[in-house]
This record gives sequence, structure tokens and C-alpha cells, in this order.
Amino acid sequence: MKSKKVNLAVLVSGSGSNLVALIDAVKSGVIADGQISLVVSNKEDVYALQRAENAGVKAISIKRSGFSSDEEFDKKLVEKLREYKIELVLLAGYMRILTAPVLEAYRDRILNIHPSLLPEFGGLGMYGMRVHEAVIKAGVPVSGCTVHIVNEHVDGGPILAQAEVSILPGDTPASLAAKILREEHRLYPSTVQKFITGFDI
Ligand code: GAR
Repeated sequence: MKSKKVNLAVLVSGSGSNLVALIDAVKSGVIADGQISLVVSNKEDVYALQRAENAGVKAISIKRSGFSSDEEFDKKLVEKLREYKIELVLLAGYMRILTAPVLEAYRDRILNIHPSLLPEFGGLGMYGMRVHEAVIKAGVPVSGCTVHIVNEHVDGGPILAQAEVSILPGDTPASLAAKILREEHRLYPSTVQKFITGFDI
């Protein structure tokens, strides 16, 4: 155990099931060395925000439409992250591509979970259900999820951990998504804890 907990922010855009897994992991001690200090959504009416509030976690939304460019939006994001003294940013179903202001402010301090075995089925346009549709269409026998460090290359940063899921005859994009989500909920918290164990704070 560290003497001081690492301040985590979770960035969301949708249902927030990974957010709940992270919140639960902090409570249960799976993430023993971190605390979730802020949840940021780029959309106002998402279940993830509700779930954060239900858990008593500070949650805000910042809408892209209020800014002249993606970079200006991300500067605001960095301002908020700094205000809450965030040390590690966790993308959990965050459906925006990060730009230079945030990538530079949090170099090697942003993690993402992606619902495929990267480098397969990643990159621009590959997110959410689209990933599972492409996987089923390709007819591969195995898929899974990947936790990686975020850099300038979409879904291309260093891989920290992966979990595999078998694809069975009759699996659909929806059934595959559900199976992989269950693995995501295990893999992300344990990987976050391992990652912050290496922090020098
Ligand atoms: C998760 O499957 C996550 O891996 C995926 O979106 C879903 C969000 O679910 N993320 C991406 O596709 C990012 N490229 P959640 O909101 O219930 O955590």
C-alpha cells in the first residue's frame, strides 16, 4: 500500500459499466492505491453520469459544442483534470479521440480499455459495437479486450494487459459484446492497480 492514493479521473460517454467496475474495485480494495476524484462525460444525458452520482463520485460534463476546436475542448478538459489534481486518466467507453493538449499534459498517464485483442480490430472508426460486428464478420475464433497506454496513435499505444474470449457458433455482436464486457470489468481494475503500483509518488 502506498502512503498516498493516486488521484484518478474516469472519462466516459455512455452506459458506464466499466466506470462502475472501477468504482467497485476502489471500494473492495482491488484498486488499493487509487481513488476516483472525478468523472468527466462529453455528453450530458448518459447513464454513466447517473451511475457516478449514485456512487457519490463527483461527475461533470463538458460538451464539445461549446468550443471552437477539439484542441480548445481538450484544453478545458486538462484545466478540469488539474483542478482536481488528477494523476492518472482512465478512458472507459470515452468516444472521443484525444488531442495534443491532453496527450502532452498526461503523457504515459492515460489508459484505455478497448473491446478487442489489439492490434486487431482497433483504430479510427473501431469502437463499441462496430468492433464486435467486424469481429463476427471476420469469422475469427477468439476476441477479447485490451488495456493500453494512450498516445497519438489511435488504439496503438503500449499494451499493458489482454483477456481472451472464445467465439462460439451462434455468437452475435451483442452476445460477444456482453461476454467481453464481463472480462473488461475484471481486467481494467486489476491492470490499473498494477500500473499505479509502479508510480513514484
Ligand atoms: C466498452 O466495451 C469499451 O471497451 C468500449 O466501449 C464500451 C463502453 O461500455 N470502448 C471502446 O470501444 C473505445 N474504443 P461502458 O460505457 O459500459 O463501460
